[in-house]
Amino acid sequence: MRPRIVAGNWKMNTLTASARELAKAVVAGVQGIDGVQTILCPPFPYLGVVAEAIAGSSVALGAQNCHSEMSGAYTGEVSAPMLLDVGCKYVIIGHSERRHGMHEADALVNGKLHTAIEAGLTVILCVGETLEERKAKRMERVFERQVVAALAGLPRAALNRLIIAYEPVWAIGTGETATPEQAQSAHLYIRSHLDKLYGISTTPILYGGSVKPDNAAALFAQPDVDGGLIGGASLKAADFLAIVRAAKR
Ligand code: PGA
Repeated sequence: MRPRIVAGNWKMNTLTASARELAKAVVAGVQGIDGVQTILCPPFPYLGVVAEAIAGSSVALGAQNCHSEMSGAYTGEVSAPMLLDVGCKYVIIGHSERRHGMHEADALVNGKLHTAIEAGLTVILCVGETLEERKAKRMERVFERQVVAALAGLPRAALNRLIIAYEPVWAIGTGETATPEQAQSAHLYIRSHLDKLYGISTTPILYGGSVKPDNAAALFAQPDVDGGLIGGASLKAADFLAIVRAAKR
């Protein structure tokens, strides 16, 4: 059975005290919620603070990005080995805010994914269509392009270090969520494409885009939705914990 996963993407939010407080509240709240892997992805400067707050708990640490090279003269960048060194198990790659806001192309996403996996991290690879692409009914072509490009050269044996997050760009931070049916049909398409590339795949596929406590259960009830990547609602412990609870089978 595929694992259930809920990851909080804090984006560029929190400071030291609020990061610590939020992480501690999540640690306290997940006690007794079995069968859901909870992941917190704070901004780089607070990875250590959060690592300390979650130490000894079932909550895991993730980062929001990494560089495509292992080390070198890349001023201002953070490498995958550094993330591992400060306690990360996961890294988000290809988030739409980086694809669209920071002009990250498919080839760069592919380079980051290879480096992160080689370094020992598990990648949360984000894919998703814009509103224009949905209106033009080009979603499937977009998923296919993003998945094929991101995974190019990835051996089957590395699939156990991969999680995919389907995040329709029009639903991120907008309060507009994909309906459970829209999410299910996108997940099913992505899963069938993975199956085509690799044979039967057990890759978890998370949904992301305005997941809230009141819509999480319906999304997570879909057969191909294995959990969520949560932005805004991950900044309030009570909301995030309600979403983690909704992911329980
Ligand atoms: P949102 O963000 O939940 O605020 O829409 C999701 C994401 O960007 O991962």
